Amino acid sequence: MTAVDPIVIVFVVAIRVNTENVLTRDMVSLQRWQRAQAGESESWAHEETWDASDIRAYFEGEFGIDISTFANEKILVVGSGTGVVHTLPIDCYAVGVDPLTNDFLDVIEDSDAHLITGVGERLPFAANTFNAVWTFNVIDHMRNPKGAIDEMYRVVQLGGELYLDANCFSLPSAVRRRMGCVDRLHPYHFAPSQVRSTVGRAGFDISHFEARETRIGDVSGPLKAKVKTAVAKYLFRFQQVTLIGRKPEK
Ligand SMILES: C[S@@+](CC[C@H](N)C(=O)[O-])C[C@H]1O[C@@H](n2cnc3c(N)ncnc32)[C@H](O)[C@@H]1O
Repeated sequence: MTAVDPIVIVFVVAIRVNTENVLTRDMVSLQRWQRAQAGESESWAHEETWDASDIRAYFEGEFGIDISTFANEKILVVGSGTGVVHTLPIDCYAVGVDPLTNDFLDVIEDSDAHLITGVGERLPFAANTFNAVWTFNVIDHMRNPKGAIDEMYRVVQLGGELYLDANCFSLPSAVRRRMGCVDRLHPYHFAPSQVRSTVGRAGFDISHFEARETRIGDVSGPLKAKVKTAVAKYLFRFQQVTLIGRKPEK
């Protein structure tokens, strides 16, 4: 038997250790994620679900599409929360997955969708199942967003699309990485380019990408909400990213 050069062994071990570091940096600790989720549960458990006309306006405003495009399709909503999936103004087969489905039951008991308690990182569906996957204001709440986007790619059909929106910050990574210390609800603070590259690396062809600043005049609600938005916009360079990615036909 040929002896293995010790230098080769050191090299292989170094690569393995490095790979593990890369993977763990993509994932926050379970405790950190659970702390964020406790805050999510408090914030949303008493919210109301969306109005059908608001859902139409959301798709037109954010993605420039008519929601009727999805009529009769199979749609998966990852991180469904108390969001759009429950009152869709179209006939379709909609499935919502969220770790807090049970916490929101008082609000979503009349949901039109099929609801599952689960996480985006482990989707309980076969590959190529859905015509479209939607995930709105979710990836910065996850434990492993990159793993979840890979899962979304797996379960959407060839030629199917991912619709995503995410709150982002155009700040240096050293600042963004520390924002989680003061912002309990969000384990991640992404830059717009990070979202784009993570989705692209999962395999999606990106057909729409926009990083938009909020206009303070458009913020509804009390003065407090406008002040919060102004601080986010000017101090933290807050931007809302919308993206559509297509799984190639191959
Ligand atoms: C800000 S809420 C947005 C909910 C909904 N998409 C909407 O637009 O109203 C974030 C949601 O992400 C969910 N979430 C957190 N981690 C998740 C994960 N690993 N997989 C799926 N959903 C997750 C939370 O439970 C919460 O419902």
